[in-house]
Parts: sequence; structure tokens; C-alpha cells
Amino acid sequence: MNSTLRLTVCAALLAGLVGCGGSSTGEGTASAGAAVTGDPVRGEELYQQCAACHQLQANAAGPMHCRLFGRAAGTVPDFEYSQAMRESGLVWNAETLDEFLTSPFTYVSGTKMGFAGFSESADRADVIAYLHQANNDPATCPAS
Ligand code: HEC
Repeated sequence: MNSTLRLTVCAALLAGLVGCGGSSTGEGTASAGAAVTGDPVRGEELYQQCAACHQLQANAAGPMHCRLFGRAAGTVPDFEYSQAMRESGLVWNAETLDEFLTSPFTYVSGTKMGFAGFSESADRADVIAYLHQANNDPATCPAS
């Protein structure tokens, strides 16, 4: 119920290209390398901010997050990405996710993801660890 409301609010904000549900933008020094080092339990709590728009197994306001690692950005079928995301040339891994989540609008200029980013590197590392764990667990991301 509450999340439906948030989704609606987020969609409205998205139309205005205003950030939604995020912590403040920060200068964010990206430091995490390709290794996944964060705390997935804390990351799952932080993921509630993403869950306003994202689900693991299905597209919603944002594209599904299963099979994210190693995927070329902007390529989930049946999701209407921005041109910026489709043409970003990015492949998602711990490093590119860390940079993207530091400041989505800066890293993929023109993205329609209405989320300001996490300025704290620990927040990014934890949410990435959660996504990584969820992707590797058949209970949350069954192989298709
Ligand atoms: C307000 C809604 C919203 C929120 C909140 C949000 N996202 Fe997104 N996300 C989107 C949309 C919309 C896109 C597609 C962007 C585009 O096409 O430019 C997207 C795209 C992405 C992508 C690229 C996926 C791909 O298939 O290329 C990743 C990764 C991502 N989001 C991660 C996150 C994470 C992690 C969070 C939480 C920290 C989050 N998002 C929060 C709406 C959101």
C-alpha cells in the first residue's frame, strides 16, 4: 500500500526529472574496486529505497535487478530505457554500480532514474553486496 503510494509519488517526480527517495547528492569519491565487500544485510534495508521503483524479478518503474551483474546497461527486454542508458556502453559490476549509485545523473547524464544517489560509499557497497547476494541466490533470482 505504502509502496504503491511511493511509486505513484516517484513516478510523478520522475516526470519532472526530480530526484526521489534518495539521500542527498554528494561529491562521492568512488573507491570500491570490482570486489564486493559490503554488508548484504544492511544493504537489504537500504534496498527499500530502490524498491520504490525496482523489483528483483520483474520490471516496475525501473528495470528488474536479477541478472544485473555482467549485464550491459539498458538491455532488459520490455523495459523502456532512456536513450542515455541504452547508449551508455556500461556493463554492470561492483565498480560501475558504485560509480552510478554515487550520482546517477552525473554518471549517466540524461538517465531517467529519479534517484539522487548515495553519497556514503558504505551505503553503496552495502546495497551492491545485497544485489550481488540476491543475484546469486536461486530463491531470490531463479535461473530462467
Ligand atoms: C524513482 C525510481 C527509482 C529509484 C528510487 C531507483 N531507481 Fe534505479 N532505475 C530507475 C529507472 C527509471 C531506471 C532506468 C533508467 C534509464 O533508462 O535511464 C533505473 C535503472 C537502474 C539501473 C540500470 C539497470 C539496467 O538494466 O541497465 C540500476 C543498476 C539501478 N537502477 C539501480 C538502482 C538502485 C541500486 C537503486 C537504489 C539505491 C535504484 N536504482 C533506485 C528508477 C529508480
